[in-house]
Amino acid sequence: MGIHIGDTAPDFTADTTVGPIRFHDWIDGDWVFFFSHPGDFTPVCTTEIGRTAQLSAEFARRHVKPLGLSTDGVEEHEAWIRDVNDTQNTTVDFPIVADPDSHIARLYEMIHANESETAAVRSVFIIDPNKRIRLTMTYPMSVGRNFDEILRVIDALQTGDARRIATPADWIPGGKVIIPTSISNTEAETLFPQGFVELRPYLRTTTL
Ligand code: BEZ
Repeated sequence: MGIHIGDTAPDFTADTTVGPIRFHDWIDGDWVFFFSHPGDFTPVCTTEIGRTAQLSAEFARRHVKPLGLSTDGVEEHEAWIRDVNDTQNTTVDFPIVADPDSHIARLYEMIHANESETAAVRSVFIIDPNKRIRLTMTYPMSVGRNFDEILRVIDALQTGDARRIATPADWIPGGKVIIPTSISNTEAETLFPQGFVELRPYLRTTTL
């Protein structure tokens, strides 16, 4: 079936390290960084859970709730979190979904059968306050995710929503942005009184 950008994120109920949740209720008007892990007590995952916890203030500043998942139970998650806190010098303060029968991993197509029948690959879903999937990324089991990129794409999505712009290759906050072709030059003059550069009719840039 596939989970695609623009889809409503599938709802589910689950046990987590902070108690049971119904996903759609738990979103509660925030953004969500939902990310899966092949398993508890594994080295790459340990660094990723730790990095997410270290970036807690950065996620909160963007109104983003992290939500981890691995196909183990709550007790294993809780023991693993103690290891993460010890080894990564942090305090994990976000929930990790327990999914021992993999039903949520299968719902979100986090199980790639030719890689593993039971363990999730490293999927990322950025979900907006309207519960829409805004970004999907899939990393292999042996490669830890780049958290600068995760924050960057959240910034790009939120800036795009707020300011009606698109972002060019390698954009970072403060960089030039692109005026979409759906906006006429006349409207652009109103929206971007600071001015814009028209390199081509389809390629106009401005700074915010
Ligand atoms: C890890 O998180 O270190 C890992 C998990 C599964 C396969 C390979 C690496």
